Amino acid sequence: MYYGDYLQLDTILNSQHPVSFSAPHTPAHDEMLFIVIHQAYELWFKQVLFELDYVMEVFTKDRISDNSEDLNLVRHRLSRVIKILELLNQQVNILDTMTPLDFLAFRNLLTPSSGFQSKQFRLIEARLGLEMNKRHQHDYYKRVNEGGFNAEDYNAINSTEKQESLLQQVNNWLERMPFFEERFWLAYKPVTGTEATGHSFWEDYRRVYQQSLTERERSKIQDFEYVFFEKAAEAYSPEQLGMLRSSFSSKALRAALFIMLYRDFPVFQTSYQILDSLIEIDHALSNWRHKHFIMVRRMIGMRVGTGNTTGSGYLEGALSKHYIYRDLAGLSTYLIERRNLPALPAELIKHLSFTVF
Ligand code: HEM
Repeated sequence: MYYGDYLQLDTILNSQHPVSFSAPHTPAHDEMLFIVIHQAYELWFKQVLFELDYVMEVFTKDRISDNSEDLNLVRHRLSRVIKILELLNQQVNILDTMTPLDFLAFRNLLTPSSGFQSKQFRLIEARLGLEMNKRHQHDYYKRVNEGGFNAEDYNAINSTEKQESLLQQVNNWLERMPFFEERFWLAYKPVTGTEATGHSFWEDYRRVYQQSLTERERSKIQDFEYVFFEKAAEAYSPEQLGMLRSSFSSKALRAALFIMLYRDFPVFQTSYQILDSLIEIDHALSNWRHKHFIMVRRMIGMRVGTGNTTGSGYLEGALSKHYIYRDLAGLSTYLIERRNLPALPAELIKHLSFTVF
């Protein structure tokens, strides 16, 4: 084995061909950086997709054993994805060493191509669970005319979007969690009844949560009822409800909140870290969108993008809208102080703990 052969450096290092370097154009020094940066992004996107493939393979199982290595590896590989995204965010700083005038020296040669057409970026978004109808101006994005995708990429993205996403898989996994089954709660001593929620734990939780709200936060109890029990207050418009809960089911969010609240129990630790990683991935992507948007505004001002969108206007819209795990991040609204958490029944604690030998 020889280093250069193993890594196929002949192919990789001979794949930078700045258009401005060939006649009749004038060589633009910064085009080399522009190409290398984009290629480096695409290589890391490849690794992100590879890690997501593994994670999603685990979640296709109908049952994931807490005693197997599966969940731990999912946690580990999602944290790797976060580290890669953090690195990608820093790479924007290198591109920022190119001035707008340097960029203008070759920009027009790139039309109508754009990072907008990055198939791998779209696959990452689709696998994570960014839904079509939640995109900013999706007619911009899903097209094959000038500045859009070629037919092959378009079909590949379409077919991934039709498959179950990681978000849907995690939703199903959360829904399957058995902690609220009656057998665990037989010895639980409820303080309140079960009228509003159908379960003595949630009834007690709802009461403590309501008491924790300040005068100005009073209406949050209605949000709580919609998010966790699908009871929509009449005054809320579909848009308002969509901001409260849009991708996860109430049942799944009850399980997610329960994990966040009781995350110190051994059985919940890994599950908690997985949920936290998904929120973190959303943050890292959002940071990227922000850095990219700021860089683009500096680079091309208010000119349209080479990919034929409004340019920075489009990117700003995508930044504010493209949160995938908003429902999970929003759960912080419904936390109560640790010391006020209802004490769990012994039968459930037994199942949430490591076995004592
Ligand atoms: C001089 C540097 C850059 C400029 C001026 C620029 C400009 C733009 C513009 C204007 C758009 C909107 C689509 C369009 O009309 O073209 C866009 C989208 C995009 N660019 Fe860049 N870009 C730059 C660098 C990069 C780099 C290094 C990447 C890394 C892969 C990248 C990836 C993307 C992606 C993925 C989108 C789609 C974003 C979305 O739909 O949310 N861009 N870019």
